Amino acid sequence: MSAPNKEYDPKQVTDLSEESVNRMVAEALAAMNNAGNLAELKEVRLAHFGDRSPLALANREIGALPPAAKAEVGKRVGQAKAQIKDALSNREEELEVLRDQQVLLEETVDITVPTDRGWVGGRHPLTTLMEAMSDVFIAMGYSIAEGPELEAEWVNFDALNVPADHPARTMQDTFYVTSQDSGAVLRTQTSPIQIRAMLEHKPPIYVVAPGRVYRTDELDATHTPVFHQIEGLAVDRGLTMADLKGTLDHLAEQMFGAGIVTRLRPSYFPFTEPSAEVDLQCFICRGASVGNSGTPCRTCGNEGWIEWGGCGMVNPRVLRAVGIDPHVYTGFAFGMGIERTLMFRNGVTDMRDMVEGDLRFTRAFGVEA
Ligand code: DAH
Repeated sequence: MSAPNKEYDPKQVTDLSEESVNRMVAEALAAMNNAGNLAELKEVRLAHFGDRSPLALANREIGALPPAAKAEVGKRVGQAKAQIKDALSNREEELEVLRDQQVLLEETVDITVPTDRGWVGGRHPLTTLMEAMSDVFIAMGYSIAEGPELEAEWVNFDALNVPADHPARTMQDTFYVTSQDSGAVLRTQTSPIQIRAMLEHKPPIYVVAPGRVYRTDELDATHTPVFHQIEGLAVDRGLTMADLKGTLDHLAEQMFGAGIVTRLRPSYFPFTEPSAEVDLQCFICRGASVGNSGTPCRTCGNEGWIEWGGCGMVNPRVLRAVGIDPHVYTGFAFGMGIERTLMFRNGVTDMRDMVEGDLRFTRAFGVEA
């Protein structure tokens, strides 16, 4: 076995001189500084610290060196490796900070930018219409009155002078609770709120009561077993049918625009005397379609008038039932369907659209918060 060649000059074996190792380090450091991001730094690590980097190749040569040179060159290469390693990890930290700053900047969400994405919830057109109608009365000094949807039969019928044998009392129209003689019904109208208002307050009374009512109807284009009415009641000294007419005309104008014509048509309700139906002149054809089959009007069916609700002067029997002296006070009352009003006002032809909850229907009314 030959002895190690002590004369061997490492500079000639490979580039392991101090100068060239320093150059390797300097090149590695320069490359790191040039790396602008972590991906580039990865390339630098491979090129200057990887298995095939000049330094790794130089490292491999150390074993072949004579022992005298081994220590010195080993130390030099070891220090160079350590220096590059440290520098790499420092640069990596710097670039990580830079990356995080960039991510924060690029992914910033400007929550003030207006967007039309997403659906905003809105209230149902029946609710907003009911409020719009109530507001007309609030502006005239009326208050809102309320009553329960599960109502005492006496309040829903008897106190309103609906005799026990009146057809409206039969099971056909009324949802009784548990049995027909339970004394409790799902209110069939908002009129019982008149009774509650008069029992709770002394005249003068000016109230409106919007609310949900129930009847045993099947759901179809023009009926729904659950619907809405708005009730009005005024009790004061000296009120006449002229006050009723003026009040209804004002409501009609507010709902359908100036120039709308109304009429009172004699009718019958047990709780009013005299009683009337309030009709609106058809605001589409303004009556022009009457007797004129050549110009069919889908809104009024060539009738010229649309039935809107019931009204009248409060029946003295009703006033007496709640302890108000009909010789001192008179009153007027009215009640109309909200669904019907929405139908004429907005050209809705099928009541089922109002209960099915299809957003394509409700969104057409806009979103009113
Ligand atoms: N409650 C009646 C109904 O549901 C409507 C009505 C008629 C209300 C006359 C009234 C009124 O206040 O005076 O058919």
